[in-house]
Amino acid sequence: MPESFFVLSKDNLEIAVDEVISIAKMYDRFAKVRVLLNLVIIQSKTNWEKITKRATFVKISGQILRKMSGLFLDEENFEVLKNAKTFVCRVINLSSNQFNVPELERSMGDMISKFSKAQVSLENPDITIYLILTNQDNFFGFSKRFETENRPIKIKKYPHELDWKLTRAMINLIGLKEGEVVCDPFCGTGTTLLEAESMGIHAIGLDFDDKMYKISKNNLEANGYKSKIIKGDFSQLTKMVDEFDGIVTDLPYGTASKSSENPEDLLKKFVSILPKRKKLAIMCKKGFEKKLNINPIKKYEIYRHKSLTRIILIK
Ligand SMILES: C[S@@+](CC[C@H](N)C(=O)[O-])C[C@H]1O[C@@H](n2cnc3c(N)ncnc32)[C@H](O)[C@@H]1O
Repeated sequence: MPESFFVLSKDNLEIAVDEVISIAKMYDRFAKVRVLLNLVIIQSKTNWEKITKRATFVKISGQILRKMSGLFLDEENFEVLKNAKTFVCRVINLSSNQFNVPELERSMGDMISKFSKAQVSLENPDITIYLILTNQDNFFGFSKRFETENRPIKIKKYPHELDWKLTRAMINLIGLKEGEVVCDPFCGTGTTLLEAESMGIHAIGLDFDDKMYKISKNNLEANGYKSKIIKGDFSQLTKMVDEFDGIVTDLPYGTASKSSENPEDLLKKFVSILPKRKKLAIMCKKGFEKKLNINPIKKYEIYRHKSLTRIILIK
C-alpha cells in the first residue's frame, strides 16, 4: 500500500494534523497514520495528490519512496524518474540537528544524475525528490508537478467573515465527501458555500440579513457556483434536514455582524433546533461552547486577539 507524506504549516497545527487524517480516513477508513510533529505519514489506497487537493495546511506532500536505512537511494528508486525530463532534490530537515542542506541537496542531485537522464532544474521540475529528516526516522520521497485548483474568488468581503482556511478545515474535519451537502445557517458572505463548492461539496446557505444574502449570492455567481442561498432565519433549517449531511457555521457574535436577537437567546434557539444525527462543525466565541451542549468529539481553541478567542466544536 503506498505511503504518502504531508508536511504541514505550523499555524493551527492541531487542526492541520486532524484535517489531513480526517480526509485520509474519509477516502479510506483503513488508512494508517503516523504523526511526527508537523509531518504526517499516511498509508492508504488514496494517493497523496487527492488528499493534498482537499487539505488546507499542507506545505509539501508526496509519496514515500522508502524509509532510509542506508545512506542513499537504490537504483530501483529511480524508476520514478523514468519519464521525467527534469528533477530537483530537496532536503526537509524536521530534526533538531543542523545539516548543510544545500550541500546535501547538491550531492543527492549528483548521485541521481549518474542513474537518470533527467536534468536538474530548480524551476518547476517534473519531479522533486525529497530527503526528509526527522528525529526518529528519515525518508526518501518524491512528488510530481500537479495542477492546483483555482481558489474561489470573493468580489465582496466583509470584516466579520470567517477565515477561509478555518472554514475549509471545518468542512474537512467533519469528513464531508464530494457530492454531499453542507448547510451554513448563518452564511454571511458565503465563505462556507464557496469553500464547499470548490471541493465538489454542495451547499445551502441561510442568512436573514438582505445585505449579507446579496453579498453571498454575488460571491457565488462570480465563481459560477450553484449553491442554494436562502434569505431567511436560521430556524428554517428544520424544514430542510433531509437535504443536507452536515452543518458548518460561524455563529453571530452580536458585535460586528447584525443579529436578529441577542446572541444568548439565539444560541438557545439554535441548540434546540440542531438536528441530532448530522455532522457538525461550529465556530463560536469562547464561553459560548459551554451553552452549546453538543457533546463534541473535538474542541479547538483559536486565539485571535486579546478579547477574541474562538472555539471550534466538531461532532
Ligand atoms: C459571524 S457572521 C457569519 C460570517 C460568515 N461565516 C462569513 O464568512 O461571512 C453571522 C451571520 O449570521 C447572520 N444572522 C444573524 N442572525 C441570524 C438569524 N437569525 N438567521 C440567519 N442569519 C442570521 C448575520 O447576518 C451574519 O451574516
